[in-house]
Amino acid sequence: MNNQLFYGDNLDILRQYIANETVDLCYIDPPFNSNEDYNQIYSTQTNQDIAQAQAFIDTWIWDDSANLGLNDIINNKNGVFTVQSIQLILGLEKVLGKGSFLAYLVSMTQRIAEIHRVLKKTGSFYLHCDSVASHYLKLVCDALFIPRAGFFQNELTWQRTSVHSDAKKYGRNKDIIFFYTKSKKYIWTNLRIDLKKSTLSNYKYLDENGRKWASDNLTAKGLSGGGYEYEYKGIKSYWRCPIGTMQRLDEENRLYFTKTGIRLKRYLDENKGMALQEIITDIPALSSRSKERLGYPTQKPEGLLERIINASSNEGDVILDAYCGCGTTVAVAEKLNRQWIGIDITYQSISLILKRLEDNFGRDFTKEVIDPETKEVKIPATLELNGVPQDFAGAVALANKQDDRLRKEFEKWAVLTFANNRAIINDKKGGDQGIDGTAFMVDVDENGKQVYKQVLFSVKSNKTLSPTVVRDLFGTIEREQAAIGYLITLYPMENLIKESKKYGFYQNKMFGKIYPKIEIISIQEMLDGKRLSLPMMIEVLKSAERKSLQNDDIFD
Ligand SMILES: C[S@@+](CC[C@H](N)C(=O)[O-])C[C@H]1O[C@@H](n2cnc3c(N)ncnc32)[C@H](O)[C@@H]1O
Repeated sequence: MNNQLFYGDNLDILRQYIANETVDLCYIDPPFNSNEDYNQIYSTQTNQDIAQAQAFIDTWIWDDSANLGLNDIINNKNGVFTVQSIQLILGLEKVLGKGSFLAYLVSMTQRIAEIHRVLKKTGSFYLHCDSVASHYLKLVCDALFIPRAGFFQNELTWQRTSVHSDAKKYGRNKDIIFFYTKSKKYIWTNLRIDLKKSTLSNYKYLDENGRKWASDNLTAKGLSGGGYEYEYKGIKSYWRCPIGTMQRLDEENRLYFTKTGIRLKRYLDENKGMALQEIITDIPALSSRSKERLGYPTQKPEGLLERIINASSNEGDVILDAYCGCGTTVAVAEKLNRQWIGIDITYQSISLILKRLEDNFGRDFTKEVIDPETKEVKIPATLELNGVPQDFAGAVALANKQDDRLRKEFEKWAVLTFANNRAIINDKKGGDQGIDGTAFMVDVDENGKQVYKQVLFSVKSNKTLSPTVVRDLFGTIEREQAAIGYLITLYPMENLIKESKKYGFYQNKMFGKIYPKIEIISIQEMLDGKRLSLPMMIEVLKSAERKSLQNDDIFD
C-alpha cells in the first residue's frame, strides 16, 4: 500500500475510502476548544463566534450538520453504532441539550464509530484529549468498543508541562490519552524505555568483573502471595523463590550475603529497561526553541508518538491519524517504517505535512525519483495525495464548496500550492486588504545588509474582475513596502494581465534579477506546474508562522 494523505473531512474520507479492518493503530488528537468555560457544557447557546477562520473547526454549534449527525446515529447509519452508543447520545441530549457540547460529542461519536470499523481485530485506538471532555469521550469510546468485545486498556496521563498557572485552581498541566483495543488479542510489543535516574542510581555496586548491580530483596515478607520457608546457609526466612532456585542463583554468583540475610544481585546489563507506565513524565512538550517545532500550536512531540507507535505496532503496520494537524503521527510512522494514512480538513495542515516530509526525508514522496543517468525510476512515488484539486474542475469545486468550516480553503490551497508550501496564510478576520498570503524573499538593502522582502498573494475566484483589483493590489504592495504581488485567478483574464504590465519591475539586488512587480497567475497555469520561483527564505514557513503566532493571527 502507498501511504495516503487525504485533504477533507475525516468522516467522509473514512466512509468512502478506508475499508473495514485495514488499520493496525489509530491515534487521534481532535480539536477541542478547551479554553472555553467548562460550564458552557451545560449551555444550549448557539451564538458562538462562527466567523473565526481557523478556530472554526474547533468551535462547535448545534447546526444542520449536528442534526444530520444525530440522525445518522439514531438510524445507525451503515450499522457502525452500537445500541449503547445510540442510547448514550439520546441520554446526553436530555442532559446537555442541543448545544455546542452535544454537537461536539455527536461529531466524535460518528468518527470514533468509523474508526472502530476500520481497525483490524488486533488493532489499537488512542484518543488524545484533555480533562474538559475526557469523561464524556470515555463514555463514547466505552459504548462503541466494549459491547463489541473491545477493551479499555489504559487512561494515560501525559504531563505536558511541569508548571501551568491557572488562577484560583490547580495548574492544568496534563493531557489524557485513552487506549482501547478492538479485542483481547492485540499488538503489544512489550516496549521498554530507559530506566529512571532514581532507578539507575540503585545500581551502585560493582562485581569482580566490573558489572554494575543493584541489591534486591529476596524475602517474601509482606508479599500477599506468601513465600517459601526454609533455611539456606544458616539463614532462615520466608523466601521469594524455592530452594532449587536459590541454589541456582548461588551457583551463578547472584547472591550477596549480608550479616543477617541474603540479597539478590540484579545486573544492570541484564535490565531490559522500564515497562511503560500510565503516567508519562519523561516526554516534554515542544519548547519554543525545539528543532521539531513547526509553529503549529497543537503540535505534539514526536517522542510521544514514537512511544505509542512503538508500543502498539510493528514495522510495516498501517497507522491512521484522522486529525493529523502538522503531521506528527505520519512523520513518526514514516521514520519507524510503518505504512500510514493521514487526514486533515485544512489545506494549511496538508501543506505543512508535505513540507515536513520533504524536510525530514529529503524528497517529495508524491513524486518518483528518476536516476539522472539511466532515466529509470530509482524510487517510486510512495505517497498518494487525495482530495487536493488536480484539474480545473476540482479547483472550481473547491472554490464553490458550501461548507462554512472550509472558509477560504480555495485561497489557502492556491497560495500554498503556488508558493511550494512556503507561504503563510492570512487568517485575520477581516481587514486583510484582499491579501490571502505572504512569503518572504531574500534580498539586500542599500547598505548590503541581508533583508527579507514581503511577497503578497491575492486569490480571486470571480468569473469577471475589473482592473481595479490589480490597482488595489499595487496600493497594498506600496503601503506594506512589499516587493512583489501575485494575483492568482481561477479564470484567466486578459484585462488584468494588461493592467499588471503598468507597474514595472522589482529588482532583487542580491541576485541581480528583475521580477514583474505584479504578476497574474491563472489556476490552470498553476495546475500545469507553474510555481513561485524566487530566492526564498529557506525556513520561511517555520519562522513566518512563529511571527504570525506572535501576531495572534493564525491557528489561534
Ligand atoms: C489538535 S490538531 C492535531 C495536531 C496533531 N496531533 C499534531 O501533532 O500536529 C487537530 C487537527 O484536526 C483537524 N480537523 C478538525 N476537524 C477535522 C475533520 N472533521 N476532519 C479532518 N481533520 C479535522 C484540524 O484541521 C487540525 O489540524
